[in-house]
Amino acid sequence: MNKMPSPATAEPIQPMKRLFRYLRNYQGKLWFAVSSSVVNKFFDLMPPFLTAWMIDTVSGNIPAWIGQQTGLSDLWSIIIFLSILTVVIFGLESFFEWLFKKSFMELAQEVQHALRLDAYQQMQSREIGYFEDQRTGNLMAILNDDINQLERFLNDSFNEIIQMITLVIFAGWSLCAVSLELGIIGMFPIPFIILASIYYQKKIAPHYREVRERVGEMGSRLENNISGIQVIKSFTAEDFEMERVTKSSLEYRNANFKAIRWNSLYVPLIRIFITIGFAATLLIGSYWVINDLRGFTVGGLAFFAMMIQRLLWPVTRLGYVFNEYERARASARRVFTLLDTPNKIPNPEKPISLYQVAGEVELQKVSFAYQNGQTILDDLSLHFKAGQMIGIAGPTGAGKTTLIKLLLRLYDVSSGKILIDGKDIREMDKRELRRRIAMVSQEVYLFHGTIRENIAYGLELCEDEAIIEAAKKAQLHEYIMSLPDQYQSIVGERGIKLSGGQRQRLSIARAILKDAPILILDEATSAVDTETERAIQQNLRQLTKGKTAIVIAHRLSTIRHADQIIVLREGIIAEKGSHEQLLTQKGIYADLWKVQIGALSNMESSS
Ligand SMILES: Nc1ncnc2c1ncn2[C@@H]1O[C@H](COP(=O)(O)OP(=O)(O)OP(=O)(O)O)[C@@H](O)[C@H]1O
Ligand SMILES: [Mg+2]
Repeated sequence: MNKMPSPATAEPIQPMKRLFRYLRNYQGKLWFAVSSSVVNKFFDLMPPFLTAWMIDTVSGNIPAWIGQQTGLSDLWSIIIFLSILTVVIFGLESFFEWLFKKSFMELAQEVQHALRLDAYQQMQSREIGYFEDQRTGNLMAILNDDINQLERFLNDSFNEIIQMITLVIFAGWSLCAVSLELGIIGMFPIPFIILASIYYQKKIAPHYREVRERVGEMGSRLENNISGIQVIKSFTAEDFEMERVTKSSLEYRNANFKAIRWNSLYVPLIRIFITIGFAATLLIGSYWVINDLRGFTVGGLAFFAMMIQRLLWPVTRLGYVFNEYERARASARRVFTLLDTPNKIPNPEKPISLYQVAGEVELQKVSFAYQNGQTILDDLSLHFKAGQMIGIAGPTGAGKTTLIKLLLRLYDVSSGKILIDGKDIREMDKRELRRRIAMVSQEVYLFHGTIRENIAYGLELCEDEAIIEAAKKAQLHEYIMSLPDQYQSIVGERGIKLSGGQRQRLSIARAILKDAPILILDEATSAVDTETERAIQQNLRQLTKGKTAIVIAHRLSTIRHADQIIVLREGIIAEKGSHEQLLTQKGIYADLWKVQIGALSNMESSS
């Protein structure tokens, strides 16, 4: 079986380009929004023209185009015409503002929704190993903060960039058209502003990155502490944790201080450049008007005074826009890295069909190591016939749970093969494979919700009778009926409102209901009393008829009647056989049995 060597990550080299490639699906909306924004900016720049025309008209320099285009020559008619034009232009400006704002907002909402779902789906399908390397806080940050950042960018900053480009082109062109020299003088601050903004951006970016890291760390810390509140209390570690939280919070605050210091310096600095350009144009323009040079009119001067302001002030936002752009880029990188990284446990291109699975399981020379490289399973070969009950025992850390994880293909074997009904599980669709296996895992995880929802987890349509039946077999029904809300009782986050044994039984009911050809119980009855365990077992024996059952247990009485018992130790098979065979071998199993029997008979005689 040749496994595709997949890179650990697939960082997009140009994250923003990748974002716009993603936007292809929204091309129509995007272009509509962009065009509305450009048209809006165009109308927004009209007032300086209108003012100049008006001033020139009243001061006796009626612009030539008015007479040519409208045929008006009477002063009042022209003034009224210009006033009406003003109203029309303002109206159009407002209309297009409404259009672009609405379109950008809609675009941003649609994209964030689609992106979040895509990212979540991709994350959900990633291999377990990925989650072990990532901190929950970090993954949450991608799904929340990063996607919100992109939403904000599409909502505001992207539009601001478009408007700025339109502004510089259109305002620059119109200034130079009125007077090239004055236009150049007026615009001389722009290159400085751009350079200053880039410099500023370079300086502030690391601080913002630090702020983000710190907020992530603080989030993780808080989350961990809330989840572990019981441990904190029972170890009276409140002061210790308070100190750690204080430290995290201080680091966050200090990172913000550094960023703020730069942030507050930027606008005052830029303002100096602008003032110089503005004053210089006023000075030279006035000199020209007074001395009647270059045909420069009062209207022309007013035009310059207004247009330069309109041009330069928005450019001061360049730093902010660069900054938002950078943030969006960082977020796009994280989001698309997640989206573009291939799964390390790939699904086969053409999965073999799994119509009816009998449940024969075979391991051929299976070796396995987790990412840290330490060998957990070493050249393991096993064969479980369909319908058998297999017991697995062995000291803690021997690799029992690991073996199960391999069977579920939560990890892939490092070498060797795992076969179900004679077929390599890597040739099966992962979800199909997992549907054929019902598992009660060592660490029960319940979702916040009702008991009913948790038992019927993953099965949308499920009859109440079937659920009750499963709960009865798991010895949980009576307890449930004793609750005020019965099957509708809320279990709390992670099932916190149930006892350990109740959680286990709920988890068993869940597996019974799944009714899969292979049933795995990993320490599934370790937390229930011996009486309940015996009752569950009797039910299970009927239930697992015709199914392959793999039962992992430290309590050997649980697996005593298994067709085959495997004793795992340090990743290899130490002993194998039926209960009786193993007892006659007088090995580890026999020793353990003796110890436990002693313990058991003591317990039983006392009850
Ligand atoms: N995700 C992981 N990454 C790295 N090492 C792991 C991981 N999970 C388990 N291990 C290591 O693999 C070894 C086998 O673990 P496993 O959970 O299979 O033991 P086990 O036989 O089920 O033990 P127990 O009886 O305590 O449940 C242990 O030494 C453990 O530290
Ligand atoms: Mg285990």
